[in-house]
Amino acid sequence: MNEAMRAYLDAPMDRRGTHCEKWDYLGRYFGRDDLIAMWVADMDFPTVPQVTEALVERAKHPVYGYTDNGEADRGAEADWLLRRHGLAVDTDWILYSPGVVDSIFFCVSAFTAPGDGILVQPPVYGPFYQAVKLHGRRLVTSPLVNDPDGWRMDFDDLEAKFKSGVKMMLLCSPHNPVGRVWTREELQRLVDLANANGVKIVSDEIHADFALDGRGQVRLLSLEGAKEHVLLTSATKSFNLAGLRQSSVIAPDEGVRGAIEKQIELAHAGTPNIFGAVAQTAAYTHGDEWMDAVVEYVTENRDFAVDYMRSNLPQIICRPQEGTYLMWLDFNGLAGFQRPGPFPR
Ligand SMILES: Cc1ncc(COP(=O)(O)O)c(C=O)c1O
Repeated sequence: MNEAMRAYLDAPMDRRGTHCEKWDYLGRYFGRDDLIAMWVADMDFPTVPQVTEALVERAKHPVYGYTDNGEADRGAEADWLLRRHGLAVDTDWILYSPGVVDSIFFCVSAFTAPGDGILVQPPVYGPFYQAVKLHGRRLVTSPLVNDPDGWRMDFDDLEAKFKSGVKMMLLCSPHNPVGRVWTREELQRLVDLANANGVKIVSDEIHADFALDGRGQVRLLSLEGAKEHVLLTSATKSFNLAGLRQSSVIAPDEGVRGAIEKQIELAHAGTPNIFGAVAQTAAYTHGDEWMDAVVEYVTENRDFAVDYMRSNLPQIICRPQEGTYLMWLDFNGLAGFQRPGPFPR
């Protein structure tokens, strides 16, 4: 990254007093305020300058009425997916939803009934469990295997669980928290297994822009036989826009898309946030250089953290993550370590 971009990202960032959940509400969540907030996937980098400019420009118009996304917005997203991920998306396949977690909930309602089995792969992002439990579905787990050379899916276990009557799988790709960027071979095997057993895959790809070390993220819909599955994505994680509440459901199959659209309608959640729409389009249009720089920065931070911990805190087991900006640390070897209670998210 060039020096100007490094200086931009390096500038001290005080987010206190900005309605910032991560920093302003530490006391509420953890009982004290004097902590370094590292508990939620929310970066402290300033977003793409053109995003801020676009938001300020729109804010100057003093009417903030009902909003919709036009073809230019859909096109900006489709162009990003093609340019950055090699995924060709027809703009008709895109539905808007307030958040990826909201979309997971809509998919659970669209494709399963109370009592149906939904599979998740622990350890995994907490709301995956909530999506199953809050809707009265049956939680089926296929834990990831922690091999000495990395985390992997257990395909024999997956196949057995799929055959036990699972209707849907919530996939996290890249995986939060273990940081795996699933390979094409792994994902194709998963899609083939799901297709053979009538399981719908809902793939949460919110961290897809953070596939590190140039490995590239294989998007679910680029695989053979994946067109009846669903991809969930968002610019909010990549560009630090989570407070603007905007995300996309991408479903090539008309019937599948219709079923999700129905749930969005039932929740009356289909009207985008004006600032979410403006920010997303600006980010997808102008965000390449910033995104490349942030990925480089996160990679440097990861390497620093791994080296530091291996040299100074060898009791904490860490592995360089392949994707996401999260690091999954194993504190079990640390004397006196007590497992913390559940995190708010
Ligand atoms: C895997 C994963 N999915 C979804 C989300 C949240 O998405 P949203 O804010 O769009 O609901 C997060 C945020 O940490 C996440 O890590």
